[in-house]
Amino acid sequence: MKFYLDSAKIDEIREAYDTFGIDGITTNPNHIMNSGKPFYTVIEELANFVKEKGIEGWEKFPISVEINPHLDDVNEMIEMGTKIASMSKSFVIKIPCTPSGITAAKKLEEKGIRTNLTLVFSPSQALIAAKNNSLFVSPFIGWKENSGEDCKEYIDNIVKIYKNYGFYGKTEIICAAVRNGKQIVDCAVSGADIVTAGLQVYKDSFYHPFTDYGLEKFRNAWDKTALS
Ligand code: E4P
Repeated sequence: MKFYLDSAKIDEIREAYDTFGIDGITTNPNHIMNSGKPFYTVIEELANFVKEKGIEGWEKFPISVEINPHLDDVNEMIEMGTKIASMSKSFVIKIPCTPSGITAAKKLEEKGIRTNLTLVFSPSQALIAAKNNSLFVSPFIGWKENSGEDCKEYIDNIVKIYKNYGFYGKTEIICAAVRNGKQIVDCAVSGADIVTAGLQVYKDSFYHPFTDYGLEKFRNAWDKTALS
């Protein structure tokens, strides 16, 4: 399973890449706003980051960049997606799963520009993303679970549908808005390709107090043992 960082902050991205070896980045207008920088400044920083690390290209290190969410005209969506895609070979165009978004994503894919259909909340939305050859689909987990739904069956069903129709592995499933280690494990058990989460979610998920407890115990034992 691949781990993507859901962030537009370059310091967090560097830390997550160096510490955990993240496999890609997802951004959204909210993350860009939280970076405190202008949109095109942020995405230029991301384009420079992959160049500097020698990982440019969506096959090596995809970075999902969302188009202006106000756009609802297919041609305008394509125009902005094409402009963003021209700035880095790593950029994948994130488009909302609306009727215009689905059409724009289909046309961008036909032009060889890779897409990520986002704001997906049902298996039927995930199915249309795959039928139109999007590289990624982003079913949101955290938002649904925050409102009381258990998403295990939701992801199971998307994986099952993709396997039934030969989409599995062609359109990769990014479980988005992942909030904790349990959700990461649920997505992995279901067979989702990728999870995307914030840096703190990964830090918390890779921590266990028994690891510290065990380390303390073994250190004490080590100190009471002769080396030779
Ligand atoms: C996914 O690709 C989105 O960027 C993301 O997960 C949105 O959710 P959040 O900002 O509430 O985590």
